[in-house]
Parts: sequence; C-alpha cells; structure tokens
Amino acid sequence: MKRQTKKNRAPAWALTKIAVSKAKELFKCYAVDKKVVLTALYLAHLQFGEQLRQQKNHDFKSAKLAANFLEKFLVDKSFKAKVLNAIKAHHNKIKTRSLEAEVVKNAEAFKFLTLAGVKIMYQEALRRGYGTKEAKDYALLKMRQKYQLVTLPCCKKEAFKNRQLIIKFFK
Ligand SMILES: [Fe+2]
Repeated sequence: MKRQTKKNRAPAWALTKIAVSKAKELFKCYAVDKKVVLTALYLAHLQFGEQLRQQKNHDFKSAKLAANFLEKFLVDKSFKAKVLNAIKAHHNKIKTRSLEAEVVKNAEAFKFLTLAGVKIMYQEALRRGYGTKEAKDYALLKMRQKYQLVTLPCCKKEAFKNRQLIIKFFK
C-alpha cells in the first residue's frame, strides 16, 4: 500500500498513519473486527493523486480496485462486503453498514482533525504550488469537511478540541 501511495504521490503516508493510529485508539472504545477496519484504511486511497480531478470519486474507484485486490486473497464474502462499504462510505456518500465502517470514517476524519495532519496538508498544498493563503484556506476547508464526518461519541470531544487548536494555529 505504501508503494501505491508513493506511486500516486498522495495522500502523504504520514496521513494514513494518523488514521490507522486513531483507529487503534478507537478499538479500545468499540468492539469491532480490527482486520476489516485496518484493511479498509489501507485500501481506501488506492486510487488517488495530487490533482483534484484524480481525487474525484476516489472512494468508489478505490473500492473497485480493492475488490480486485481482495479477490486474490480468497477472503470471505462478508469481510469483503464490510471492507468495500467502509471504503465507499468514508466520505459519507453512502451510508455505513457496520460499526467497522463508522470507525473507518471517524478515524479517516482525524487525518485533518489533528494539528500534525493539517500541517502535513498545508505543506503538501504549498508543494503543489498553492500560495500561503490558498494553502491555509484549503487546510481549513479539509478540516471543516472532516469535522462533519465525526459521529462517534468517543471522538467528538477530541475533534472539537482539535478544531479549536487548528483554527488558532492558522490565525
Ligand atoms: Fe478519502
């Protein structure tokens, strides 16, 4: 997966690590199938890129690639269905059908709901040629979008606190 991210040049691997580490924290709060959650988090951006057009519908496009990938491992039907739903639902375009998918969506949200994640996004935007104001606005936009995706009680308090920190950081 790391290789694919390198090939796509996005998202930064450090962001994936933030989401994975948040999911591991959430395992203490929610009894979920850890393999489903981690598999979905690692496969959710198989199709991605630096340009916005490459990011469009990456949830559905990545799920399609993930389906082909999972075929090779003869995983059972329900595991595959849960992983694919979690990937397709991580931007809330469709409903999550399991607690695992909900954990994936919330963990993903912390990519831009941590100061570390937002700083990575800001630096990435500068590297892609954004001006400082544009990069700041983009980072704040991503943070606000992700904040809307936080649904789990175990995440809400931290997300709120982090949102304040991020707004203060960019002032
Ligand atoms: Fe995504």
